[in-house]
Amino acid sequence: MKTLRLNNGNTIPQFGLGTWKSEPGQVKNAVKYGLSIGYEHIDCAPIYGNEKEVGEGLKESFSDNVVKREDIFITSKLWNNRHYQQDVIPALKETLQDLQLDYLDLYLIHWPVAFKPDVNFPEDASGLLSLSEVPLIETWQGMEQAVKEGLVKNIGVSNFSIKKLDDIITNCQIKPSMNQVECHPYLQQDELLAYCQKNDVILTAYSPLGSKDRPDFVRNENEPILLENEVIKNIAKKHQATTAQILIKWAIERETVVIPKSVSPERIKQNYEAQNISLDTEDMEQIKTLNLDYRYVDASFFVFPNSSYTVESIWD
Ligand code: A2P
Repeated sequence: MKTLRLNNGNTIPQFGLGTWKSEPGQVKNAVKYGLSIGYEHIDCAPIYGNEKEVGEGLKESFSDNVVKREDIFITSKLWNNRHYQQDVIPALKETLQDLQLDYLDLYLIHWPVAFKPDVNFPEDASGLLSLSEVPLIETWQGMEQAVKEGLVKNIGVSNFSIKKLDDIITNCQIKPSMNQVECHPYLQQDELLAYCQKNDVILTAYSPLGSKDRPDFVRNENEPILLENEVIKNIAKKHQATTAQILIKWAIERETVVIPKSVSPERIKQNYEAQNISLDTEDMEQIKTLNLDYRYVDASFFVFPNSSYTVESIWD
């Protein structure tokens, strides 16, 4: 599998398995099946509520000699209620325990949004902490400590704007190697991608298929359906591929990492095989015209009256 080089010399497999929205009862088999057909990279997070089952899938894959730990790449993320610097390593250790691992390949600050430690998901502004109460650079210092303690090989961020990423890059000891953000033809992120490429930060594209299985609170009315886009459908027809495969290969062509989620063996395999498709310049030019700057995951679920967070401030 093709890898990309991170800014510390380590590498990351460009294609991985997403696990957001994968039900605990299904994700173990998805992980085991993916690893058995060649997946080398699994993207996780404690807020997905399934890390224990991912861990069971990993453990069984190791004990059945399907893969070796050192040959695969595992990412997880720091949830918003563990942003105090001293909470980072305890949170990471919980994730490691759930995943049954000694180290992670990559650990990301999941969102530039902080919650009070006893709040898993706020219902109003009282559950939030502002970024002046818990500055992101202090959370980042906890992430750096995790590298120093050997608990994680690479660290990065997720859902960070250029402004927030730049602030970390300017003030850090260990530079972020990753920014994982929503990215697909309706949200092409050209400016952010150019910034990342200039600053040697790899961009991971989440929701590359448009995450049609999002829960209702992450859904707006009359959303455009990415997998039904006519231009993508036509390109798929031309290559005797599926629309999902074109979306995946588009992300790979742009030198991003891509992590489509599936719990269906057929689609897990189909998505893997997308790596073999060749898109030509004309395909890429056509897809370029589809950008709508449209976010499926717009972060409005973190915004409450009388809070310091607005949708604009999160994506500034
Ligand atoms: P399923 O898990 O049943 O395969 P995203 O990665 O953008 O979050 O999208 C995930 C959604 O896309 C899920 O609903 C997933 O369903 C579906 N999906 C994954 N792979 C494919 C595919 N190859 N074709 C169509 N839908 C897919």
